[in-house]
Amino acid sequence: MAAEIVEHAPAKVNLALHVTGRRPDGYHLLDTLVAFAEAGDRVTVAPAQYDSFSIEGPFAALLRDEADNLVPRARDLLRDIHGALPPVAITLEKNLPVASGIGGGSSDAAAALRALVRFWRLDFPIGTLVAAALPLGADLPMCLHARTLFARGIGEEIEPVEGLPPLHMVLANPGVAVPTPAIFRALASRENPPLPALPGSGGLAAWLAETRNDLETPARALAPQIGNALSALAANGATLARMSGSGATCFGLFASAGEAQAAASAIAARHPAWYVTATRTIERAHADVAH
Ligand code: C5P
Repeated sequence: MAAEIVEHAPAKVNLALHVTGRRPDGYHLLDTLVAFAEAGDRVTVAPAQYDSFSIEGPFAALLRDEADNLVPRARDLLRDIHGALPPVAITLEKNLPVASGIGGGSSDAAAALRALVRFWRLDFPIGTLVAAALPLGADLPMCLHARTLFARGIGEEIEPVEGLPPLHMVLANPGVAVPTPAIFRALASRENPPLPALPGSGGLAAWLAETRNDLETPARALAPQIGNALSALAANGATLARMSGSGATCFGLFASAGEAQAAASAIAARHPAWYVTATRTIERAHADVAH
């Protein structure tokens, strides 16, 4: 019997995100530097008599009523490409806030795809998976790669980035769900300059200071609580505080794990209803095989 497979679905953090144009179909062209964090959801795939999908963890309740979770859609997509495959029990441990700009559903679906490819021992190169999964969401390609990268186009053009140091950060979400399409619609300018070239080692802080998240201004206009999260990160010592994706999760960068942990504790004590966690970026998502 195949072993149970556990796959990390890391939080996706847009360290910088410039909106550079719009396609005729309405999707926006992006230029974004993305890193992935230790903090994340977990997808477990196990042998079963029949297909099942269950959700547990701190944010499970918010998802259970949703008919259209991306994880079973990812499973069905693999069967569409491959043909019949044995039944599986999939469990999603939902640790990250829902609809919050840090990958969420896309990272879960990508982790499910990675786990199922291993579970069923499918010989799919990542390029095949990426092309097949794009209809599930524009963030799927970056989440399938789950390593530091530039993403361009609507997210389907991936350029891996080597050698970025691990970044200590605090993720802070003020508990407000922001609808991505509304944020894109509220953009004042859709034709912004692309990201500058990444400098060699040591220049990241200056590079970050030169860049933005273009979705931050429209998101703050729709959800002013995002400003509170950014202020809390800055007030607790973040060297940079910025929103990720279309929000509302914000990240603050810190010089050390200790400083990030202290800031996270202080912010959580002051804002008990927020999602706050200290974490750090990873080189790539890891996978464990449980026996
Ligand atoms: O593809 P995804 O489900 O993540 O996108 C949600 C919505 O966000 C899209 O329907 C679209 O309105 C908007 N979007 C966009 N440009 C992108 C990604 C998303 O306009 N690159």
